[in-house]
Amino acid sequence: MEIVADYPVPEECSARIFEMSGHRLDPEIAHDLWEKILQHKWVLSERLGRDVGIKVSCVDYIENVESIKHELEEAEAVRLLKEMGATMVDPSVWETISDTQPPKQVVNKRIILPLTKVDLARKHGVIPPRTIIFFGPPGTGKTHFVKAIAAILRWWYIEISPSTLMADGEERLGANLKRLMEKAGSVDEAVIFIDEFEEIAESRDNASRLEKSVTNEFLKQVPLLKRQAKKTLLVCATNYISRLDAALLRPGRFDCIIPVGGLDDDGRKTIFLHYLSQTNRGNVDVDRIVSLMPHFTPADIEYMFQKVTQTAFEKELVHGKDFRLSTDIFLEFIPKMRPTLTDEIIREFEEDCVRYTRF
Ligand SMILES: Nc1ncnc2c1ncn2[C@@H]1O[C@H](COP(=O)(O)OP(=O)(O)OP(=O)(O)O)[C@@H](O)[C@H]1O
Ligand SMILES: [Mg+2]
Repeated sequence: MEIVADYPVPEECSARIFEMSGHRLDPEIAHDLWEKILQHKWVLSERLGRDVGIKVSCVDYIENVESIKHELEEAEAVRLLKEMGATMVDPSVWETISDTQPPKQVVNKRIILPLTKVDLARKHGVIPPRTIIFFGPPGTGKTHFVKAIAAILRWWYIEISPSTLMADGEERLGANLKRLMEKAGSVDEAVIFIDEFEEIAESRDNASRLEKSVTNEFLKQVPLLKRQAKKTLLVCATNYISRLDAALLRPGRFDCIIPVGGLDDDGRKTIFLHYLSQTNRGNVDVDRIVSLMPHFTPADIEYMFQKVTQTAFEKELVHGKDFRLSTDIFLEFIPKMRPTLTDEIIREFEEDCVRYTRF
């Protein structure tokens, strides 16, 4: 009878199981399974009165021992999620967004409710969206919204940036994108987020041969992903919607194209209070301060808090006395800030809204 390796290291077990059965397992899981496969080999060989090879035992164990199948599928799913850097987002993220902050209401009605009230949606023939684009100026909260969607759905959050797809050279971008989209098709209950989307889906009109092939690959992959029965949501974000390829923007590929723009007073107040709650605060006239920052994005508010809290920290360090944030310190900082949104940026964004918005 073939004598099989005594106690191989986990990586070896994982590699050997993959070689023999095509199942790629987490090394630790593979290590535990290895012993069971060896036992199975012994049982099978005894039963058949001849030495069955390790490969046959491995495949037979994995494919036919029913109880293991489900476990393996789960283990594969966990491995895939790990490989793609999936995380769970704290549900409280949704609460940091004010009800008046666009596009919270749209996201709720068009995305969250159809995905959570499945029977009602089916009764009325509402098809939950699978593919979404968020567009808007920098720092307006696009990424934050995607995280909030994953959080409220209690789905995995998987973020992909074009720079990681290009990590091993620009020529590999198309191939990496294909591999990634195939992987994305096998995960369940996941929000897959592609940031800086214009980097991979630039209009083909003025693009190089390489860029064209990447956009073409994406055009091919989106319908394949939509056909998968898994619960996934592909969300792409861009600051430059007008640079995207027109074929991608036509109905059919993306179900919703949603603008994420400036905040109203209520939206700014919610974010201001969120950051204020994490500080050593005294009396702060929030309404007055919020009314003085009309062009501030969430990123600007966050940056202002970074400056203000650093100052508070330094003041207490120097004077040794409890230093509390007050209205005055914000009044001192606001004029020094350069908010992201300008009249020009707002005008361009409004034009884009008219031209591209669809949900
Ligand atoms: N509602 C909110 N409450 C609290 N913080 C927020 C909120 N929205 C956004 N932020 C914070 O503001 C910052 C900018 O938001 P985010 O990164 O989502 O913007 P973005 O539109 O994706 O920017 P970019 O275009 O640069 O990618 C982040 O640090 C985010 O955590
Ligand atoms: Mg972002």
